[in-house]
Amino acid sequence: MQFKTIFEPFRVKMVEPIRMTTESERNEFLKKAHYNPFLLNSDQVLIDLLTDSGTSAMSSRQWAAMMEGDESYAGARSWTRFEHAVRHVTGMPHILPTHQGRAAERILYSHLGGPGKVFFSNTHFDTTRANIEFSGSEAVDLPCLESADRESPFPFKGNMDTERLAKEVETRGPANVAAVVLTVTNNSGGGQPVSMANARAVATICHRFHIPLVLDMCRIAENAYFVHQHEPEFESKSYLEIAHEMCSLADACVMSAKKDALVNMGGFLTLRDEKLTHELTNLLIITEGFTTYGGLAGRDLEAIAVGLEEGFEPDYLRYRARSTAYLGENIRAKGVPIIYPVGGHAVYVDAGALYPHIPPHEYPGQALVCELYRLGGVRAVEIGSAMFGKYDAEGQLIPAAHELVRLAIPRRVYTQSHIDYVSEVFDAVLANRHNTHGFKITFEQPFLRHFTAHFEPLG
Ligand code: F0G
Repeated sequence: MQFKTIFEPFRVKMVEPIRMTTESERNEFLKKAHYNPFLLNSDQVLIDLLTDSGTSAMSSRQWAAMMEGDESYAGARSWTRFEHAVRHVTGMPHILPTHQGRAAERILYSHLGGPGKVFFSNTHFDTTRANIEFSGSEAVDLPCLESADRESPFPFKGNMDTERLAKEVETRGPANVAAVVLTVTNNSGGGQPVSMANARAVATICHRFHIPLVLDMCRIAENAYFVHQHEPEFESKSYLEIAHEMCSLADACVMSAKKDALVNMGGFLTLRDEKLTHELTNLLIITEGFTTYGGLAGRDLEAIAVGLEEGFEPDYLRYRARSTAYLGENIRAKGVPIIYPVGGHAVYVDAGALYPHIPPHEYPGQALVCELYRLGGVRAVEIGSAMFGKYDAEGQLIPAAHELVRLAIPRRVYTQSHIDYVSEVFDAVLANRHNTHGFKITFEQPFLRHFTAHFEPLG
């Protein structure tokens, strides 16, 4: 018998209380936070869907492993365990630990990048883009055509447009292309998976033009789940084998372990090329730490080593994908426009379609994150023109391609009743849809402005 209930494949061993709040309290909190949920305190939030990054609940096995942490400066036992675990997944010879994903990005992209260079990606994540642009390079997104259709049932809307990639490389000249970054799953492109067929086609182009292929593998276990589901060649392969095969296509991998490695802090960079490794090791030691800890405690290395195993467990991955889809499908059935099918780690709401009366320069996504918080204490993140908008020479906003809001689901943290509550909050959001207004920005920084920007409500 196939039961409908999504069974969380774990028991709760430790609890963290959630302090209840009222709508009028939340109105005050939001005002004090300048209408930017990043500026709220976490104890003002009931359900925190801001990110799936570093928010996982660790397992009893991970906590036990942490007690084994070897805090030696060099050559710690914990480093050896970490190195084995990372090599087991990636198959890469050279492994550089970093304190989180963006540190790996900074080390790699500041070296490969620089003025006059270009990077191509299925969609650059915000820290990826910021590191590339900070080096003076250009970051160009080449998402597949199917990704433009919110409702297209195509299962791999995270793919890269390989036809355009080949053309762009030829027009710009391969020597000017610093790297191609394939992000799995495609976080800024709706958390959609990338097929093995697409990864292979991207790798073929990169090899033909001698361009390094970087795999951003922070959600590679979730991506492997979708490859297993939808690419018949892989239905009898394990999730780990699928991930391993995808890594085998790349010249380098970056990973924020805060996602599929189920830890609260950590990351790494893996490389095939020995010479490049030597060059990057200098930067690692100067900015992160010695080669066998890279900004992490021995106990962190232990937790990652165990998390990298648990993140690929079939029961866990099945629950992970089904529980994320459960939220997406429930709110979609109420009439909330979402990117469909639902990806691995989050549900992406199309705030532009939800609020057609709010133009991009009034930030419809910001309006939705404020509504979700105000009405239900749910914290989500805008992934639209507040995050990715730019200004032209006249200071006019160049809007982002989409006005999205991401409801990212922390791993192994919330139960089905928490998620049912979020679904109910959307009833309130829909009821107030036509009275919802936009926002203007009153303070911003030149890079990654969404983290610290201040907003004011319009109307
Ligand atoms: N690459 C991708 C695809 C990411 O999603 C992230 C982080 C990073 C790199 C950077 O990793 O945070 O460890 O430095 N994403 C988080 C998010 C912040 O909310 O999606 P980091």
